[in-house]
Amino acid sequence: MTQDELKQQAALRALDYVIDGEIVGVGTGSTANYFIDGLATMKDRIAGAVASSEASARRLSSHGIRLLDMNEVESLPVYVDGADEIDASLSMIKGGGGAQTREKIVAAVARTFVCICDASKKVERLGRFPLPVEVIPMARAQVSRELIRLGGRPIPREGFVTDNGNLILDVHGLDISDPTGLEITIDGIVGVVTSGLFAKRGADILLLATPEGVVTYGRT
Ligand code: 5RP
Repeated sequence: MTQDELKQQAALRALDYVIDGEIVGVGTGSTANYFIDGLATMKDRIAGAVASSEASARRLSSHGIRLLDMNEVESLPVYVDGADEIDASLSMIKGGGGAQTREKIVAAVARTFVCICDASKKVERLGRFPLPVEVIPMARAQVSRELIRLGGRPIPREGFVTDNGNLILDVHGLDISDPTGLEITIDGIVGVVTSGLFAKRGADILLLATPEGVVTYGRT
């Protein structure tokens, strides 16, 4: 089975968590795209969707799924999204697509975060995948110096501008033995909009697609 087929299996399993008549929070990336395509098959059963990126909003719209603005939504039963890495406590690195700020906002409102991944994303310890950090452009150099002080090697993502008009620094080599502590530290640097560490608010459920089937994990 290919990695894409595994992504699709995890995504389609997440449709079981969509609640009839409710709004669905929708993530960003290739796995989330499979979820959006699956959601289209049941679009008449949901009240609509909140998207975590312009790209996902476009894909939802192309399927005729009603889009809601985050500011219109007080609570969200479920948010479905992929990850770049996820550990046993369901803390994650996200932002491979540079959408972590909006993803973190939608996740913060959701009662249940369902993470959908192929088996390659599950790791013992976060940090092999460089940590994406969204940064206000004028703060790039200062934030880079702070990230170097934390032991990282920040590399500006070439030619990439986030949906919010900012830059991404991909930070290599960080020691992420304390994901929550590091998330608080990096998100507290002046000029950082959001890091791709999702530990304070990790996933509640992981649907991990393996060649033997989709395995469900709950947050410990
Ligand atoms: C985008 C994300 C994605 O969820 C993450 O990059 C995984 O992407 P994919 O499903 O394409 O492997 O955080 O900002």
